[in-house]
Amino acid sequence: MKTIIRKLTFYVGQVIRFIYYSYLRMNGIKIGDNTFISLGAKIDTQFGEIIIGDNVHITSGCVLLAHDGAIKQMKPDANPRGKIVIGDNVFIGVNAVVLMNVSIGENSVIGAGSIVNKDIPANVLAIGNPVKILRDLS
Ligand SMILES: CC(C)(COP(=O)(O)OP(=O)(O)OC[C@H]1O[C@@H](n2cnc3c(N)ncnc32)[C@H](O)[C@@H]1OP(=O)(O)O)[C@@H](O)C(=O)NCCC(=O)NCCS
Repeated sequence: MKTIIRKLTFYVGQVIRFIYYSYLRMNGIKIGDNTFISLGAKIDTQFGEIIIGDNVHITSGCVLLAHDGAIKQMKPDANPRGKIVIGDNVFIGVNAVVLMNVSIGENSVIGAGSIVNKDIPANVLAIGNPVKILRDLS
């Protein structure tokens, strides 16, 4: 019985995920092949641009924020809309926040709870608030 419920839950999750990805794509989010976005992640569909590569893992509680109202309040002439680019094979741990105008290079891992406020190169493990490179993974 437990197995059947688990399989059913998985199947329902897949259907909901398909609908969620379609919703994101309709809102201009680019999502590569074989990429996993948790239903518990928040992808900014309001403003700005988000490009997510192939084989990316965006886990539960992550926030990808492509705009920034705070900037607008502090600097009225600043552009509150930005861009996020996530390279292929990136893994973003639970509850990480990726702020606008940031790119994460391919194969990099972002630790749980990190605040990514600057570009992260390819093939590194980066953690913390603010995010720092812990080590090279290549
Ligand atoms: C970063 C991570 C991958 C561990 O990598 P690791 O190479 O084994 O790192 P270690 O556990 O040896 O920790 C190395 C240092 O980083 C620190 N650290 C580890 N993860 C951290 C995190 N998420 N945020 C801040 N610091 C972290 C450790 O405290 C340690 O610091 P110290 O050297 O001062 O003691 C892991 O902690 C993590 O965040 N994984 C993501 C898990 C996740 O979100 N999974 C989603 C569901 S599958």
